[in-house]
Amino acid sequence: MNILLFGKNGMLGSELCETLKDFPLETFLQEGLDISDREALFSAIRSRKPTHVINAAAYTNVDGAETHQEEAFLVNAEAVKNMAEACRATNSILIHFSTDYVFDGTSKAGYREDAPRNPISVYGASKALGEEYLHNILPNHYIIRTSWLYGPNGKNFVDTILSLAKKSTELRVVDDQIGSPTFTCDLAPAILPFLTDHLPFGMYHRTNDGVTNWAEFAEEIVRVVQLNTKIIHIKTKDFPRPAKRPQNSTLLNTKLPRLRPWNEGLSDYLTMNSPVTLRLSKGDSR
Ligand SMILES: NC(=O)c1ccc[n+]([C@@H]2O[C@H](COP(=O)([O-])OP(=O)(O)OC[C@H]3O[C@@H](n4cnc5c(N)ncnc54)[C@H](OP(=O)(O)O)[C@@H]3O)[C@@H](O)[C@H]2O)c1
Repeated sequence: MNILLFGKNGMLGSELCETLKDFPLETFLQEGLDISDREALFSAIRSRKPTHVINAAAYTNVDGAETHQEEAFLVNAEAVKNMAEACRATNSILIHFSTDYVFDGTSKAGYREDAPRNPISVYGASKALGEEYLHNILPNHYIIRTSWLYGPNGKNFVDTILSLAKKSTELRVVDDQIGSPTFTCDLAPAILPFLTDHLPFGMYHRTNDGVTNWAEFAEEIVRVVQLNTKIIHIKTKDFPRPAKRPQNSTLLNTKLPRLRPWNEGLSDYLTMNSPVTLRLSKGDSR
């Protein structure tokens, strides 16, 4: 086995490096290899002939994508197409991460792995096209969709709420978008069966178990760290943002054992020595 990982400095990529530290792994930074550079990507994959390529690199600025459409499609769709073609040439397995934002969020029940894509944002459309390319070009692939990611090495909702909650007595958070918060430290080890267990190729949904909305998620964050900040529930229409978000982006997992409940992952994250929790524990709070 020899594995190439793109996106090593990302929130998920950095945790994947930790999970795979005892595997024969070569990692790439964006500054070392821009995945939207077809020649460089082909050369990296061709020269190494990896058994597995893991793609945790992506353009992930959901609101930014609305005005940087070209960049989003270049990284999230065209680069995935090129990666799939390069992997086909070297007979490598490609493990690619994708998102709940490929769905429109109108389903009451949530989305199975085979539900039709219908993105409502540029980011969602770019990730959906990347999935489609991969599906059409390379049979030996796994697409792992996940949602509402947070973890030690990236900008995320949990850290934002913690920082704001330190400074405010009340926070207004939307309660009409639902999904499954997912801890990168739970998701990263969940990649192992894809490397070692010969799972059938195709689409998988991997999130922490259970569903919540952003306001309840925020309430759980302040409850665990024992801040008194009141979370005021508001509606999406009262908090306009450049990109539309799906209302119900629950990813139904019909193929694999479930990951642990989202609130258990959150509790562990909040007791880790992340920069924000460290500041809180040093008394830098209200
Ligand atoms: N974050 C979420 O809430 C969420 C939810 C659902 C699904 N996902 C999916 O999960 C995966 C990982 O997301 P994440 O939150 O870990 O993302 P992230 O923290 O934004 O990391 C993305 C990584 O991609 C790299 N990258 C961007 N453009 C590149 C390029 N042209 N060439 C090479 N590398 C490039 C970035 O490099 P730099 O560090 O140099 O910028 C960064 O290391 C993505 O596929 C994302 O769509 C994320």
